[in-house]
Amino acid sequence: MAEELRIRPNGDLASALRDYLTEWSERSGIAVEIWALPVTAVPGRVARVVYTTLVEALSNVERHSRARQVSVAVTAGKAGLRMTVSDDGAGFAVDEVGPGSARGLAAMRARFAEAGGMLTINSVPGGGTTVTGVIRAR
Ligand SMILES: Nc1ncnc2c1ncn2[C@@H]1O[C@H](COP(=O)(O)OP(=O)(O)OP(=O)(O)O)[C@@H](O)[C@H]1O
Ligand SMILES: [Mg+2]
Repeated sequence: MAEELRIRPNGDLASALRDYLTEWSERSGIAVEIWALPVTAVPGRVARVVYTTLVEALSNVERHSRARQVSVAVTAGKAGLRMTVSDDGAGFAVDEVGPGSARGLAAMRARFAEAGGMLTINSVPGGGTTVTGVIRAR
């Protein structure tokens, strides 16, 4: 995944996310509201999970949601890290997405699980979609 390479070994996750969000918003025409980005250093492995998940979540927003706005919050501290990506688009019935047709969702969940965390997707048809990922510090 080419996007992963954009985080340098000692790169700063907040800057990488901000740059990506700015470019994505300009290209997609969908407004981004940044609620929070990490103010402390995040381990590289966790940073890569967050960055690649954000890329996939935004790709879904662009391709499927018809959203006008997406809100992003990534916070990190002693307790761990939390990210949310929330759009105001069409939403979908999460339980009705067939297993074969949900590679992106499966990959996002798997990435968080491998890092000892958990990713959940909440969506209401007509009421938008929120992707939430949590990784507790060990
Ligand atoms: N933010 C969203 N808004 C509306 N529908 C969504 C959103 N995210 C996912 N979906 C729905 O869930 C389905 C599964 O998403 P998933 O990312 O797993 O697959 P995909 O985007 O169709 O294909 P890919 O494997 O390329 O990611 C999508 O096809 C779409 O119907
Ligand atoms: Mg997808």
